[in-house]
Amino acid sequence: MELIQRPRRLRSGDPIRRMCRETRLSASSLIYPIFVDETLKGKRPIDSLPGQYQYGLDTVEEAVAECIEAGVGSCILFGIPAHKDALGSSAWDPNGVVQEAVRTIKAAYPDFYVITDVCMCEYTDHGHCGALCGHEVDNDATLELLSKVALSHARAGADMVAPSDMMDGRVAAIRAALDAEGFQNTPIMAYSAKYASAFYGPFRSAAGSAPAFGDRKGYQMDPHNRKEALKECALDAAEGADILMVKPALSYLDVIRECSDAFDLPMAAYSVSGEYAMIKAAAQAGLVDEYRIMCESALSIFRAGANILITYYAKELAQAIQKGDIG
Ligand code: PBG
Repeated sequence: MELIQRPRRLRSGDPIRRMCRETRLSASSLIYPIFVDETLKGKRPIDSLPGQYQYGLDTVEEAVAECIEAGVGSCILFGIPAHKDALGSSAWDPNGVVQEAVRTIKAAYPDFYVITDVCMCEYTDHGHCGALCGHEVDNDATLELLSKVALSHARAGADMVAPSDMMDGRVAAIRAALDAEGFQNTPIMAYSAKYASAFYGPFRSAAGSAPAFGDRKGYQMDPHNRKEALKECALDAAEGADILMVKPALSYLDVIRECSDAFDLPMAAYSVSGEYAMIKAAAQAGLVDEYRIMCESALSIFRAGANILITYYAKELAQAIQKGDIG
């Protein structure tokens, strides 16, 4: 058979396949989510996320040590406060759980890059992502609160802040607040296209942040929408976001692709709790090979155009990259 093109030539063995990989991954692109509970001593397994833990302020260093050991250089912190109220005031307490965790981590590991999630839902007694006006989240009143939260994180030593609330204008508000106090060099990673997704289920039980009534559809995006993601990214970029994010990841690979093509900012993707929990459950049922599914899922997110991946598999992926199984 006379065939000029034989694509199989480039698949004939491991060395050539690895040489020709189009998607390259690096452990330096991975961010590991860490949950810190103000009232906890030690660490507690999270039932909804097998293999993940909530850490007390006394063990959060241990979580970071494991990241460093695995080759992961960055985390994103989520706080579970001792006290919740209508405004979520613990969120901007200078001695709040996230602020203390940042101080503890940065004191022990000054080079470890600490990002903080900026939102109200873990701190409000109603579980919504801002201050309420009736049963609605009051956008403009919430901007002030978010700015206070971001500023308190920066003062505690956070390297980057990541607003996940989906209020209009939050990036501009946070940027102004940070700049006014000399934090011009603290980057903002905006959860820009954050969808109202069922994939957050396991996180909400892990972080105790399920809304007490209603849902988040009044501020998070409708999963039907694509152009709206471009609009949200454009607004965040114009307001001064340094990094844009699409969330969740696996059901939104098309959105990651479009947004990464359209903007000249680094694009992050958050492979959320439901994505992780589904792989774990299928693997535990003996239906799929967890390691290979983890690798293939992660690389598909990078192939779609993400430069940065937030994932509960960060440590295992860093090892897979080091072994050359992906990347
Ligand atoms: C806070 C926040 C959520 C997640 C990240 N930040 C929950 C939500 O919006 O309900 C979800 C992360 C995950 O599912 O892994 N607003």
